[in-house]
Amino acid sequence: MVTEAYPTLSAEMGTKIIDPQSYAEWDGLLDTFDWLRENMPVARVVAEDDSFDPFWLVTRYEDAMHVSKNNKTFLNRPRSTVFSTKEAIAFSERVTGSKMLVDSLVTFDAPIHPKYRRLTQEWFMPKNLKTMEAEIEALARTTVDRLVNAGTEADFVPLVSAPYPLHVVMQILGVPEEDEQRMLFLTQQMFGGQDEDLSGTGMKDMTPEQITQVVAGAVAEFERYFAALAADRRANPTDDVASVIANATVDGEPLNDRDMAGYYIIVASAGHDTTSASTAGAMMALAQDPEQFARVKADRSLLPGIVEEAIRWTSPVQHFMRTAAEDTEVGGQKIAKDDWLMINYVAANHDPDQFDDPRKFDAARSPNRHLAFGAGAHQCLGLHMARLEMKILFNELLDRIETLELAGEPARAKSTFVGGLKTLPIRYTLSK
Ligand code: HEM
Repeated sequence: MVTEAYPTLSAEMGTKIIDPQSYAEWDGLLDTFDWLRENMPVARVVAEDDSFDPFWLVTRYEDAMHVSKNNKTFLNRPRSTVFSTKEAIAFSERVTGSKMLVDSLVTFDAPIHPKYRRLTQEWFMPKNLKTMEAEIEALARTTVDRLVNAGTEADFVPLVSAPYPLHVVMQILGVPEEDEQRMLFLTQQMFGGQDEDLSGTGMKDMTPEQITQVVAGAVAEFERYFAALAADRRANPTDDVASVIANATVDGEPLNDRDMAGYYIIVASAGHDTTSASTAGAMMALAQDPEQFARVKADRSLLPGIVEEAIRWTSPVQHFMRTAAEDTEVGGQKIAKDDWLMINYVAANHDPDQFDDPRKFDAARSPNRHLAFGAGAHQCLGLHMARLEMKILFNELLDRIETLELAGEPARAKSTFVGGLKTLPIRYTLSK
């Protein structure tokens, strides 16, 4: 049966869904999603103060899969693909003339999207990534060296899980190590941080005009940086993804500076906080279960299961938005053309109709068809790379660490979009 009425969330619950703080309080958030899946699986979220456009919140696995896979009906434009307030969207329009600060794969639909996606699809497949393994192993080794040199206690996030994926992604983009911090800082300036401990940009106390200038400056600097990098890769192509993008053509034309910067920025920004969050989540699960740690240390065939379950369990990308291209229906709820929808991956990946005991970390979960990488035309381009990076890092960690436990309370970041642990205090002994 198709429902025409609007099952609208209470103001209190609606506020929870778009409040970054809720994502730092994981169990309470999962309780909210349990209630929604049961009582209002496709719920209308309306701002009491008109601060954002209303949207449909999709929380069941099956419905989230349906929206993700039907890319003709559920588009990535023209509305923002990430939840944003009206003020933030107006700000982006002021800076760039578009609803999103950067145009990239996630803001394109067919027929443009497949043309851009095809440019790097092969590069991100396992066969090509195999050629990168030795480089990634070297990065994993130097990262674990830092943990070993830190003694017997450390915060895993700043020491290991945050810098490692950043190094990997910068390496494939051909950004030299001395420029990495600058790139990181520019990304943070561009996307702002919702968590004051992480943003570190000093933008908190600025006026809106000053912020506009900083962000516009960051966008321009990115474009300049990557235009120079691309010029170098045209003259001296290597086998990195930067060379593929620099030498690519769409409809016979090379990418212009803005499109090229958009491509580099999406790979850079999609590839580090995400893998950092799933890596920290896997480490927390192992620290909380010493027996599991000992089992996987002795039998590495268990590692892929741990990696996959960590990705589901943490669901680092917490949502993406879509716009309905036509009048349609989701889970029995009528949706009108131009309506905005939120696919909530955290909610979908904790749906008990799909996953037994979904809050449990179960490395042997099979099947584990989670939605953490999305599905359909926009499914994560870097999914094989994320798995490979995690597997390589954990192999190194398991070789060099003998025992592992928590040394304090882990804390999650306040963020509605990409989220995960911001601190993970661990205590460990080293292998002989
Ligand atoms: C555990 C780590 C990761 C998670 C959970 C993750 C998750 C996601 C999700 C949910 C999407 C959107 C899917 C959809 O709309 O259906 C996505 C897209 C994307 N991801 Fe990832 N990602 C991860 C790691 C990476 C890495 C390492 C890279 C590259 C180095 C990457 C590059 C991208 C790109 C370029 C897109 C846009 C694809 C498109 O729109 O066609 N991701 N990712």
